[in-house]
Amino acid sequence: MDVKPVKKFKAVFGEQPHILAQAPGRVNIIGEHTDYNDGFVLPMAIEHRVNMLASPRADRTIRLFSYDFSEEVQFALDDIQYDSQHPWSNYSRGVAAIFQQAGYSLQGANLLFSGNVPIGAGLSSSAAVEVATAMALRTLNKLPIADDQIPVLCQRAENEFVQMKCGIMDQFVSTMARRGHLLFLDCRSLEYKLVPFSNSEIQIAILNTKVKRELTQSAYNERRAQCEQGVRILQQWAPHIQALRDVSWTEFQRYRSRMPEVIAKRCEHVISENHRVLEFVQILSIKDFKAHHWRKLGMLMRQSHVSLRDLYEVSCWELDVMVELAESVPGVLGARLTGAGFGGCVVALVQRQAVEALSEKIQQEYLNYTGIQPEIYISSAADGASAKMLS
Ligand code: GLA
Repeated sequence: MDVKPVKKFKAVFGEQPHILAQAPGRVNIIGEHTDYNDGFVLPMAIEHRVNMLASPRADRTIRLFSYDFSEEVQFALDDIQYDSQHPWSNYSRGVAAIFQQAGYSLQGANLLFSGNVPIGAGLSSSAAVEVATAMALRTLNKLPIADDQIPVLCQRAENEFVQMKCGIMDQFVSTMARRGHLLFLDCRSLEYKLVPFSNSEIQIAILNTKVKRELTQSAYNERRAQCEQGVRILQQWAPHIQALRDVSWTEFQRYRSRMPEVIAKRCEHVISENHRVLEFVQILSIKDFKAHHWRKLGMLMRQSHVSLRDLYEVSCWELDVMVELAESVPGVLGARLTGAGFGGCVVALVQRQAVEALSEKIQQEYLNYTGIQPEIYISSAADGASAKMLS
């Protein structure tokens, strides 16, 4: 880790940090807007991460310093309030509040975090802050929290404290990911499988549109409510349905015409996207995996984008431009928006020898079309969160 945040910690708090916790951002390969429908997702952790330095305090105050914003907030553990002046602080506030609600007692702490996960780019910088905070607080307070409970508590922090009704994917992969693997998660049972994913011929490219829509949170919560409405409608005819996860394709075809069109489109995306994830994972596990299987995987990613654009309606012009430019480069097998949508990043499956051509094409043409300078990150599948004592 860069030494500057450590020096800053010393300057701000007058002592050395005792603990370094870190948590990565993520890119979702396929399975979008399925997590809060009890469905399947297939993300991987990326090398971009949040580092959280921590030391204990004798009182019941948290001092939290953001290295990147160069701002500090303080709050009392007995009265944790939402802070609209310093929105970046709410993820850590939420985690401290939820830990206590869950019955874990905390002592005060000095915390300083820094990171390189692009903010608001759909790469889960907020989940990385939550998980890094949780790892730091767990270590500092020696709390008996199992690894797979960390994402559950962090999701609650985001749902209940930040009021973003996100699913569990981001926090889960940020905590549980393994280098060289994708993480296939059943968001209902929280059972997961690490799927080996390292191939010298293929790379994952992340193409940042640099567009951030202000209304993401309300549009996201609205999509979630529409899915819940879909479940309520379908339950009238098929009472076994608890979530869109339970709806088979045949069942959906039977009832589709009786549903309001917008709701039907949202449901169709989720139901078909779950199938794509299962197919993707099944193809990756083929023993006799051949080059043409990559093309099939790319096709599933393309179908996912079309569905997110036309049925779920969470794409935007810049994301569509980015996907089209990427897919026009020979050797790009498939590309799709990743994360919540409404801006942010595109993820592309690319043959290694095509990465440079892709990069050049995007740098020039995305700028020509949109007037925005994009960013490109090539990342391999990275490790999940960790915390260690510094001595
Ligand atoms: C955001 C949320 C996730 C997930 C994705 C869409 O990243 O935090 O829980 O719903 O959007 O797949």
